Amino acid sequence: MKVLICYFSGTNNTKKIVDRYCQSFEDNGVECDLHKIENDEFDKNIEDYDMLGIAYPVHAFNAPSIVLEFAKKLPEASKKVFIAKTSGEPLKLNNISSLKLIKLLKKKGYSVENEYHYCMPYNIIFRHTDDMAYRMWESAKAVVPIDCKSILDGKKEKLDGVFMGSLLAWIFRIEFWGGRFNGKRYKVSDECVHCNRCIKTCPTKNITIENGEFKFGDKCIMCMRCSFFCPKNAIKIGLFNKWRVNGPYHFQKPEKEEENKHKNYCKKSYKKYFEKCQAKVDAEKENLEKVG
Ligand SMILES: Cc1cc2nc3c(=O)[nH]c(=O)nc-3n(C[C@H](O)[C@H](O)[C@H](O)COP(=O)(O)O)c2cc1C
Repeated sequence: MKVLICYFSGTNNTKKIVDRYCQSFEDNGVECDLHKIENDEFDKNIEDYDMLGIAYPVHAFNAPSIVLEFAKKLPEASKKVFIAKTSGEPLKLNNISSLKLIKLLKKKGYSVENEYHYCMPYNIIFRHTDDMAYRMWESAKAVVPIDCKSILDGKKEKLDGVFMGSLLAWIFRIEFWGGRFNGKRYKVSDECVHCNRCIKTCPTKNITIENGEFKFGDKCIMCMRCSFFCPKNAIKIGLFNKWRVNGPYHFQKPEKEEENKHKNYCKKSYKKYFEKCQAKVDAEKENLEKVG
């Protein structure tokens, strides 16, 4: 059996999940190939694969525009698909993010049979504490192999719907336009050391230098890669600058307790999310004990 996972990841959270999937598939004797959606050329033949996976970070309760554009260009094929998404908060509203993608895939003959959501730390709005990032990753790390097994066992698993979900997702897609509008307003401060990391890694090649000045075009998809990984925190993200998050998460257990300024933010939802992950892990353990 052979699986192809096509993914987009702005700041590597989704990539971390995708790598975990790949490892889990391989642990089950399944070959797993990856395709990075931002690469212009789709050099894989879908017919070589038994199953397709699509992974993305939730952007304004939707799949990023780059993922939807990719789905539009996929060849027609009758293949099973699973979706894996990451998002900063565990709200059910994030479930609507795949509705448009599922519709596009269905039109081409694909059938989405499994859909999973993993909480990973915010790359915009505010910086999650190291402890929160660690807990999120530990939960996802434990749950992905179980989800992977469900996919391989042919167990269909979909996320719950939301009332008027398609309409809400459509309204939130204003972010696609907002990103392009806001992207042109990015500015680089004097702290910049001209390492050009932002230019080299922008997934839409939206950053250039003209007459020695940084120029941000109108192709920004608000993935945050440029400002998040800027070693000097020198990129101001236009109207959303107050929500800027800079510097990669390390996903390690912190040695000291840190102040959590956002400890009441979505508190109940996070609690429910972690409990649900733990319950899944416990159920799997019980299952294995019964079998073994
Ligand atoms: C423009 C933008 C919009 C976002 N919208 C949402 C959202 O609607 N819900 C949510 O929970 N997280 C949202 N997030 C947070 C990301 O989904 C989350 O941090 C994700 O794990 C980032 O993954 P990546 O590192 O693979 O890009 C948003 C992030 C960005 C940059």
